[in-house]
Amino acid sequence: MSTPSSAIESTLVENRVFEPSEATVKAARIAGMGAYEALCAEADKDFEGFWARQARENLVWSKPFTQVLDASNKPFYKWFQDGELNASYNCLDRHIGTPVEDKTAIIFEADDGAVTKVTYKELLAKVAQFANALKARGVKKGDRVVIYMPMTIEGVVAMQACARIGATHSVVFGGFSAKALQERIQDVGAVAVVTANYQMRGGKELPLKAIVDEALGLGGCESIQTVIVYERTKTAVNMVAGRDITMSDALAGQSTDCAAEPVGAEHPLFVLYTSGSTGKPKGVQHSTGGYLLWTRLTMDWTFDIKPEDVFWCTADIGWITGHSYVAYGPLAAGATQIVFEGVPTYPNAGRFWQMIEKHQCTIFYTAPTAIRSLIKASDSDEKVHPKNWNLGSLRIMGSVGEPINPEAWMWYYKNVGGERCPIVDTFWQTETGGHMITPLPGATPLVPGSCTLPLPGIATAIVDETGNDVPNGSGGILVVKKPWPSMIRTIWGDPERFKKSYFPEELKGYYLAGDGAVRSADRGYFRITGRIDDVLNVSGHRMGTMEIESALVAKSDLVAEAAVVGRPDDLTGEAIVAFVVLKRPLPTGDEAKALANELRNWVGKEIGPIAKPKDIRFGENLPKTRSGKIMRRLLRSIAKGEAITQDTSTLENPAILEQLAKTN
Ligand code: PRX
Repeated sequence: MSTPSSAIESTLVENRVFEPSEATVKAARIAGMGAYEALCAEADKDFEGFWARQARENLVWSKPFTQVLDASNKPFYKWFQDGELNASYNCLDRHIGTPVEDKTAIIFEADDGAVTKVTYKELLAKVAQFANALKARGVKKGDRVVIYMPMTIEGVVAMQACARIGATHSVVFGGFSAKALQERIQDVGAVAVVTANYQMRGGKELPLKAIVDEALGLGGCESIQTVIVYERTKTAVNMVAGRDITMSDALAGQSTDCAAEPVGAEHPLFVLYTSGSTGKPKGVQHSTGGYLLWTRLTMDWTFDIKPEDVFWCTADIGWITGHSYVAYGPLAAGATQIVFEGVPTYPNAGRFWQMIEKHQCTIFYTAPTAIRSLIKASDSDEKVHPKNWNLGSLRIMGSVGEPINPEAWMWYYKNVGGERCPIVDTFWQTETGGHMITPLPGATPLVPGSCTLPLPGIATAIVDETGNDVPNGSGGILVVKKPWPSMIRTIWGDPERFKKSYFPEELKGYYLAGDGAVRSADRGYFRITGRIDDVLNVSGHRMGTMEIESALVAKSDLVAEAAVVGRPDDLTGEAIVAFVVLKRPLPTGDEAKALANELRNWVGKEIGPIAKPKDIRFGENLPKTRSGKIMRRLLRSIAKGEAITQDTSTLENPAILEQLAKTN
């Protein structure tokens, strides 16, 4: 029986513990807590020696490194600095001449169910050919290339091809608007855009190239010399002569041989934009050596990847999860992976389960939001319940992107994993490059809703505002006390912001994750309690409240002021609620509804549909203190529909609370 969706809420104290089965432990790479503790002890005893060993054993270096960690210019840490390697070589060429070369690298399932498979050898040929096409279009080592592509083999090929020639890619999620795309192209100073004419999602053909045209038309993108267009569908699109070329034309006549260009370990493999609490999205810059090491190693540790596994990470390549656990980690590990173009609810909400059965998937990695929406769907329609498929191939399941509530965890564990498969609840961030706190499938006793313990070598801790450790059982600020190889190197073009955002002085030089956390009194297990800054997590997607506020006030003919907060949501984790003061009398009824819709669509255009507020409230003013500060805490209570119990005596204008409580 499925859990009714009404039960999908968090319980505060969680006592259930699920030990890994003896067979799982026996077969695992890190077999049992003793093995985990031994690795942690090794890292503690000889931190640099530990990382040097991992880097030598797990990566192929064209020039070996002699220096492990360079901490001479904190917090701009450098890892394996004098070593040279190529990420694409480490994902593809290294498998040639081994049994992996003829193994399926990618099982691609399109939105309509059509399946295409490529072997490692074939993938290498595609990547090399596209790398040559990029070079022929003038792209060279050190250039930046924006990739605005659907989930396709070609999307992965584009990323790998950039890595192959030493160009730094910056993937922009295909759901972002023209304006968001333009800002990223401009900030990163890209010379080329790789896109598709359209993308297919849920049976619909959605434009990509038209959005690129619009973005480039907004100005500030003069650095762009070439736009390569993958023809995902047959529908023709506008092509600008001299600038645009189809992928097939770009590939025509190009050799399928292209030597991988060695780069320094610190060479920026990619820049990926993510939201912060202030200002515009930050371009998180990752390295080549440290980043690749960690994606490779966590495939072994967290997913216990074996040669016969069929790995499936459902994340889009537009997010960090799709970088680390689609484009790089699985390939570096020589795994077979599924790449899925579509959405979990098309043609029905049984799609994931059907695909797991069809492709005999063994490791499945998805987000709590997807699980919650599929619970809801199977509550109302038995036909899409996982019990209708044989999911016996699964052996490990993962969760990522947001806290998973214990009820959703239990449903996933029972109904998808058949109470056999450990769930690795992986806590990490765009900035961390790979997993930080996660259970190990063959070692860690599982507690629903807890990401359990840090990986070996990862020095996570919970501290107070002055950087001192808090005792287990008390909540605090999640930090990482020591650097790690796959950490963010800087914010592209803004090193000062990097220092300020992640290494505030009062925290003793620790890395500030931006999340609150608590460790359990008994096991010292970590549980993430959510962001402590003005960042929202909507369906596992990070959104800055200020970004949405700026988008709203950019509608300057209508909006005078706006404040955005999050509210807990059963399905999406958090939902966006916007409080808006208009430059016109307070609207009511249908007018208010129409204006709320207009603003929602406006935000969709400014940022992308994922940033559309679920709820927009109008008021003649916002609750402010006499000094003019917006009282966000009050807004959060109003958004939740809570009675205001806080002291409102310092409010300039208490009457407006009632106005703002009204929904449209
Ligand atoms: O708040 C945490 C939440 O997602 C944030 C990072 O978002 P992003 O950079 O987009 O990366 C998401 C994919 C790695 C974190 O600061 N988060 C991520 N994973 C978890 C999580 N919260 C709780 N449990 C998790 N497993």
